[in-house]
Amino acid sequence: MKPEKLIVDGRRLDGRGPNDLRKIKIEAGVLHRADGSCYLEWGGNKVFAAVYGPREAVPRHTQNPLRAIVKARYNMAAFSVEDRKRPGPDRRSVEISKVISEALERVILTEQFPRASVDVCIEVLDAEAGTRCAGLTAAAVALVDAGIPMRDIPVACAAGKIDGQVVVDLGKEEDNYGQADLPIAIAPRTGEVLLMQMDGHLTVEEFNKAFDMAVESCGKVSEIQKKAILQRYHAVDEVIE
Ligand code: CDP
Repeated sequence: MKPEKLIVDGRRLDGRGPNDLRKIKIEAGVLHRADGSCYLEWGGNKVFAAVYGPREAVPRHTQNPLRAIVKARYNMAAFSVEDRKRPGPDRRSVEISKVISEALERVILTEQFPRASVDVCIEVLDAEAGTRCAGLTAAAVALVDAGIPMRDIPVACAAGKIDGQVVVDLGKEEDNYGQADLPIAIAPRTGEVLLMQMDGHLTVEEFNKAFDMAVESCGKVSEIQKKAILQRYHAVDEVIE
């Protein structure tokens, strides 16, 4: 049911201010059959990412003799949403897989692996808005865990507009009943934009504000990614000792 207001006395429904992110927890190296992996919780989202490769691309006609291809597959579990989702790919998941593949391809040093493929599986177990940002952020950590050489560690976050105000990281009701959603992914060192999509309407000023706020939030998420990666290597050291 649509809530009467999404912002009451400057606070959002879950008590956040406009610049506050939902709680994020990231763990690297959680799956043992994959070359690299990550488990991420972001608010009510729960996402696994697994990376395989670089390995010979199949079927062979998909191979590029000059560089590796990057194939990300985003999938939502049937039980991840309120109305059971019909299993298998649909328009939305094909679109999200495509934009995530293209974003990751921009930072992976694909020219080092001609004819190869880097495969990224993103599985959403629980969805509460912002799953493409959560999936891409998890995929980036899984790529680092797999030792795939990259120019930067990509990171994603959305900003949007609810009750006429620009805020970051929309929750489920904010996404459903808000006026706009602007998910972006960047390479944080250079600020290069790797993904940008928009639902709804924003004025130019609102767009600029939302973009700047999303970039700033990406910086915060990037720090959590780095901590998860360091934690992973720390754990390896402990086992060796
Ligand atoms: O997840 P994201 O915000 O990247 O993509 P969206 O297409 O804007 O979807 C927003 C939210 O709608 C998802 O995170 C899910 O919580 C929900 N959704 C759903 O309930 N059923 C679907 N078949 C697809 C999405």
